[in-house]
Amino acid sequence: MGMAGWHLSRNKVLFFSCALFITLAVGVHLTPFFPSISNFLYKSSSISDSSLPTGTTSSSVIRDSCIFSLHSVLIYKSDYSECVDDAIDSNSDSGCKKMSWKWKQSGSVANCGFQRLKKPDVSVLLNGSWVVVAGDSQARLMVVSLLELVLGSDGMKKIRGDLFKRHSDYSTTVDEIGMKLDFMWAPYVRNLTNLMMKFKENKDYPDVILMGAGLWDMLHVNNASEYGVSLSALKDSVLSLLPVFRNVDSIDRETSESAWIRSPHLFWLGMPVLINSMLNTEEKRERMNDVMCNAYDDEVSRTKILRQSGGPLLKLDIRWLSDLCGTQCTVDGMHYDGVVYDAAVQIMLNALLLESNQKAR
Ligand SMILES: *[C@@H]1O[C@H](CO)[C@@H](O)[C@H](O)[C@H]1NC(C)=O
Ligand SMILES: *[C@@H]1O[C@H](CO)[C@@H](O)[C@H](O)[C@H]1NC(C)=O
Ligand SMILES: *[C@@H]1O[C@H](CO)[C@@H](O)[C@H](O)[C@H]1NC(C)=O
Repeated sequence: MGMAGWHLSRNKVLFFSCALFITLAVGVHLTPFFPSISNFLYKSSSISDSSLPTGTTSSSVIRDSCIFSLHSVLIYKSDYSECVDDAIDSNSDSGCKKMSWKWKQSGSVANCGFQRLKKPDVSVLLNGSWVVVAGDSQARLMVVSLLELVLGSDGMKKIRGDLFKRHSDYSTTVDEIGMKLDFMWAPYVRNLTNLMMKFKENKDYPDVILMGAGLWDMLHVNNASEYGVSLSALKDSVLSLLPVFRNVDSIDRETSESAWIRSPHLFWLGMPVLINSMLNTEEKRERMNDVMCNAYDDEVSRTKILRQSGGPLLKLDIRWLSDLCGTQCTVDGMHYDGVVYDAAVQIMLNALLLESNQKAR
């Protein structure tokens, strides 16, 4: 798996030369190989090399604005045809209550050409790669959405039981595309930090790391400032993971490119909106209140762990998405219907496309 990063990148080259070539051609041709994360790296590292591009070329502006437009989605009641499809799928006769989502079609978002990837696309994109999802129950729901996309809903049904063994890890390899997926139960931020250290120790890095923890901490520790302390430690451990960050003395295009190819794509899974009156225990209603939720979120901003604030992780904003979906999309005020995580998975995949765009050249 040490070379897994190569697979991801090489496949993206293939990918761009077929399915998405036309819609993403703008990005492919206009942008240099320079990855978006570079802005952050050069700002926050001691590396200074005046020969480096500053990352402010028009193309990187386009790419960055697309990265930050990824959450411009609508969630709405499924229209008739979507409902019919769904009824056939699930044999449900409960009427049409399902929600759907799509990207907004306004100018700047439309220009980014986001694509809802289907199974064949995802198979190519993730072929030969190692994906790690770590965190609490939200992270597990992301795994469900991702695997449903890759395996289809029938394939997913077969493994659902294993995946949902309480508080356990889950690993699978999707043979037809050689994708390895590990779910790590990591309810505390400290668990995520340990995981980062393990990757570093083994010198074995996933291609994609999606992580997030907070709900469990809020319920069991309930101390936002301690949460912030763990987030800072996590940020340090993530920064120390990025091999290219440390080992590059003189960056020339060739070496930096191959180094970049091997650094993982990093995502943070944000917390959902908690609907207090729907939470299913008294303890939850008391501890997981709005004030505490905001305090936890504030720590995420304050510690600048997110790309949005110059950090290493791109946030998948579950709070935003779950808020769009609203109370009709949750039964326990905390875990939302598939549509929320489906949208988040597609946002992640499109972020991978945007980033690999840079790397694939
Ligand atoms: C995955 O990659 C392998 C090796 O490059 C290739 O043989 C296979 O056809 C690919 N599968 C998909 C679904 O792209
Ligand atoms: C997560 O961290 C907690 C607190 O440090 C620890 O007690 C627990 O064993 C860890 N869990 C895992 C799965 O590593
Ligand atoms: C939160 O943790 C900090 C540091 O451990 C401690 O000083 C503070 O009193 C705690 N706050 C609450 C409300 O327990």
